[in-house]
Amino acid sequence: MEREASREPLVEQIGQLKRDRQALILAHNYQLGEVQDVADIVGDSLELSRKAAAAEAKIIVFCGVHFMAETAAILAPEKTVLLPVREADCPMARMADAEALRRKKREHPDAVVVCYVNTTAEVKAECDICCTSANAEQVLQTIPPEREVLFVPDQYLGSYVRERTGRRIVLWPGYCSTHARIQPRHIEAQRARHPGAPVLVHPECRPEVIALADAALSTGGMVRFARETEAPVVLIGTELGMVHRLRRENPDVEFVPVTEQAICPNMKLTELQDVLWSLERMQHRITVPEQIRVRAAAAVQHMVSIAGQGDRPPTTDTEWGGRPTGATVNPGDDPATSAPDNAPADAASGAAHAKERA
Ligand code: 13P
Ligand code: SF4
Repeated sequence: MEREASREPLVEQIGQLKRDRQALILAHNYQLGEVQDVADIVGDSLELSRKAAAAEAKIIVFCGVHFMAETAAILAPEKTVLLPVREADCPMARMADAEALRRKKREHPDAVVVCYVNTTAEVKAECDICCTSANAEQVLQTIPPEREVLFVPDQYLGSYVRERTGRRIVLWPGYCSTHARIQPRHIEAQRARHPGAPVLVHPECRPEVIALADAALSTGGMVRFARETEAPVVLIGTELGMVHRLRRENPDVEFVPVTEQAICPNMKLTELQDVLWSLERMQHRITVPEQIRVRAAAAVQHMVSIAGQGDRPPTTDTEWGGRPTGATVNPGDDPATSAPDNAPADAASGAAHAKERA
């Protein structure tokens, strides 16, 4: 209660400055509750990137991690996209770099390259189409069945859509260290406590976790499920911040995280003070060099069109286009076989940076 009262002046200042600057505040579903509460729009990666592109506001404060703000900057280069905390980054997005992807493409010259939105602009620029957890299956369905797919960087999301679609998918060895913390035993324990409660997990979870769940949904999919469910209790297997929004919007349903350990340290770096600072200083501005942006935008726009906004998606082989095929391959490096099967590498969380506002 006291803490809420102490936030009030900050919240007012943010609101005032936001109006003065005619800015729009976007927050991902995993952001701290206090940040979600000052945002104009809270959503999943797909919703937020669409909203950023469609918004009339010229200034967008993106409370999330770097690739999300960067995706907004890719889609809307004429806008000023601000990331309040420069160090807020997604470790999984850093598990693929453009040079390594170019090498992999040379090994699979005929593959359609699909990148999860959790990638850098440089990696998106190397891809044919982007996807999010909300539309990965839908995106895969548009690819001609005979074509091989190279899926970057999330091996768990990739293996989930491989199972759902039966497509030939080459996986990259990336993974989310936060979702990898969720284990089958967490689900089993909560199920025993709440018999009959539906279990929702994010498709970034390990396959053995997804296998135990009733549904694998994007964060936006969980929001929609929660609005429609008649279940009194729902078990949530994703980053802990998700339950803030679910509880706020559905006070009659009890949402129980399957574990309290799934906290993305990067998503938690942004505090109210940072949002205010970002609006005051107009920092940190996220930009993408134009030659990369144009190519990355093609992959993102391709996805947006498939998800029902824009042109009809290309569905024939020739429309997927050919990419230059290089000569060298790097045999011994098959990502599909290097899935981490133990606890996540915390060192990869990348959250140990000090926050720098000055
Ligand atoms: P969503 O696209 O479901 O919001 O997920 C983004 C993300 O980073 C999950 O870890
Ligand atoms: Fe990246 Fe995982 Fe954090 Fe999402 S939850 S931003 S995938 S590290």
